[in-house]
Amino acid sequence: MPTILMSGASRGIGLHAARRMLDIDPTLRLIVLARGEQPALPRTTVLRADLTSLDSLRKAAAQISEPVDGYVGNAGIQMTNATTPTADGYETTFAVNVLAHHLLLRLVPLAGHARVVLTGSDAHFGDLRHNLGLIPAPKWTNPDQLARPNPGRSGRGAYADSKLGVLYLVHALARRGFNAYTWNPAFTPGTGLVRADRIGNVLFRRVFPLLPGVNTAERAGDQLAAAATGPLPAPSGSYIDRATVTPSSAASYDEAREEELWAAAERLTA
Ligand SMILES: NC(=O)c1ccc[n+]([C@@H]2O[C@H](COP(=O)([O-])OP(=O)(O)OC[C@H]3O[C@@H](n4cnc5c(N)ncnc54)[C@H](OP(=O)(O)O)[C@@H]3O)[C@@H](O)[C@H]2O)c1
Repeated sequence: MPTILMSGASRGIGLHAARRMLDIDPTLRLIVLARGEQPALPRTTVLRADLTSLDSLRKAAAQISEPVDGYVGNAGIQMTNATTPTADGYETTFAVNVLAHHLLLRLVPLAGHARVVLTGSDAHFGDLRHNLGLIPAPKWTNPDQLARPNPGRSGRGAYADSKLGVLYLVHALARRGFNAYTWNPAFTPGTGLVRADRIGNVLFRRVFPLLPGVNTAERAGDQLAAAATGPLPAPSGSYIDRATVTPSSAASYDEAREEELWAAAERLTA
């Protein structure tokens, strides 16, 4: 029985993806990390874990003794500021969107063939075509600084930085022999992603889903399930935009930054 470890399966895109993966493969078992609401899914073990806490992640990882056949790191957060510290003193967006994946992948035993899929975002491009003017462009700096609360950065700016960090992490994983991919849902309004912003949340949940051409959580869930369990889409390190393998931004291919992030993530999660 294959087993996939997944975060961000309690709602939104991830809940649809989890259901889809379980539907497609009746032998599949999921281990889901969830901090609050427990998703009602068949053949699923829920481990309580808050991705803002390294201690919580370590306790959850310690409960996984058998190698898993895949990791779907879909949990993600968008805040209204970049100043909220986690219990470990890190900026919350960076902690959840980058450091949590890194720590889990260092602690959880993975089978040799295991596929790792991390959910990225169009926000990493930082141009009007991809972020529709809603999210500032990433301003990548030293990862030790990005990991700390920063009154000079907005919550959305921190989100863009963190999603560029996801690309760097995936490239560093691929270099280390992991079978790793970044998957991008593109603009998928209607989910809980911007719930921290009250007005933005109303627009995101009720108004933006009416726009033509946007993705839906259901469709995105199908696409994430395909990226995680379908035929191997492309060489390790590739970027999958919804269902298509395509290059990510030019800035996302930067070995020096990728290795600097890896080293910082090792230190920060040690
Ligand atoms: N929607 C879009 O337009 C869009 C576009 C590009 C990328 N994405 C990415 O897609 C992924 C899914 O987002 P979504 O739109 O489906 O949003 P969502 O409905 O808010 O789902 C986010 C998921 O992440 C989990 N999560 C967040 N913080 C957590 C924490 N501290 N500990 C444990 N779990 C935590 C949430 O759990 P709780 O239920 O406990 O909050 C939830 O399951 C994210 O990585 C997001 O960045 C979304």
